[in-house]
Amino acid sequence: MKETFELRSDTFTLPSEGMRKAMYEAKVGDDVYHEDPTVKALEEMAAEMLGKKHAVFVSSGSMGNLIGLFVNCGRGNEVLCASNSHIIHHEIGSIATIAQCVPIEIDAPNGILTPVLLEGHVKMRGVYDMTATAMVEVENTIGGFPYTVSNLKGIRRFADANGLKIHMDGARLFNAALAEDVKVSDFAELADDVTFCLSKGLGAPVGSILASDSDEFEYCARRTRKMLGGGMRQSGFLAAAGIYALEHNIDRLADDHANAKTIAKALASTSWADIDPDQVRSNIIMFNARGLSNSSLCGQLNEQGILCLTDGGMVRLVTSLNLKNEQVPKVVRIIESFKPVSD
Ligand SMILES: Cc1ncc(COP(=O)(O)O)c(C=O)c1O
Repeated sequence: MKETFELRSDTFTLPSEGMRKAMYEAKVGDDVYHEDPTVKALEEMAAEMLGKKHAVFVSSGSMGNLIGLFVNCGRGNEVLCASNSHIIHHEIGSIATIAQCVPIEIDAPNGILTPVLLEGHVKMRGVYDMTATAMVEVENTIGGFPYTVSNLKGIRRFADANGLKIHMDGARLFNAALAEDVKVSDFAELADDVTFCLSKGLGAPVGSILASDSDEFEYCARRTRKMLGGGMRQSGFLAAAGIYALEHNIDRLADDHANAKTIAKALASTSWADIDPDQVRSNIIMFNARGLSNSSLCGQLNEQGILCLTDGGMVRLVTSLNLKNEQVPKVVRIIESFKPVSD
């Protein structure tokens, strides 16, 4: 059988033997009563890493985003976000249907907002015939691009000057920190609430963290999680995987970034991929096809065993635990010798 290389997403990672053992051995309790010792341990560990007072274990990145918007933006208020953001395109409209917030899409190069791009989009409270702006949402990384801390500091100053909260969708926050050579807490301190996913590059099967310094936010987040059906009982089995991920799988993200760069360089050497490898900053490679459509190229790469997707119309490859270092030269060889059939 032909070897396949799983590059569709880092969400396809499977728990390792060690992680499964940690799950099997987890001590558990009823987390809705906040009595699961393993969930509590994960939440404490995550809060400490992020430099936040509270962390809440939630079932998914989407739920973390939804609770953040629900609690910190509020019904009928506007949230400023990049037009390619996950909360707009990939969360089945929960931003509007459940959190009842109004997304204001801002076109931003690579999805990275700046104070200059936000300028002019804020509608003040107290004007009775206008929706009020309450929040800026930043996704870090977005399409593989990290925010710089200095840009986020500017966004923080902008938000403070305009009375706005900042929600950070840090699904891949550890990738962003690695790309920018900073600590996750350097990003987290600039957001009112911040998420990260355990179930992507960190390799856990389920779960995300939602963190904040505010006691009121934590209280509302736990109640909203229950309201949404996300109160889990003996979820320590899942939290154990999260603890294992934080203990074992952060440092190895450097391999994913290096592998993405190697693959991007191989793509750049072909006639059919329009890509600048310098633009690949973490574990996500996005590019356009030359001489054929992106969907056709994606289908043909899949036939070659390179499993990929189109995202936002572009071809996307994502490196993760699913691609072993020794498989990278094989992927490079396939790319270098591949001649796609034009549309
Ligand atoms: C940037 C971003 N935010 C949020 C999510 C949602 O995470 P989940 O799939 O756990 O709901 C994803 C998932 O791919 C993501 O890429």
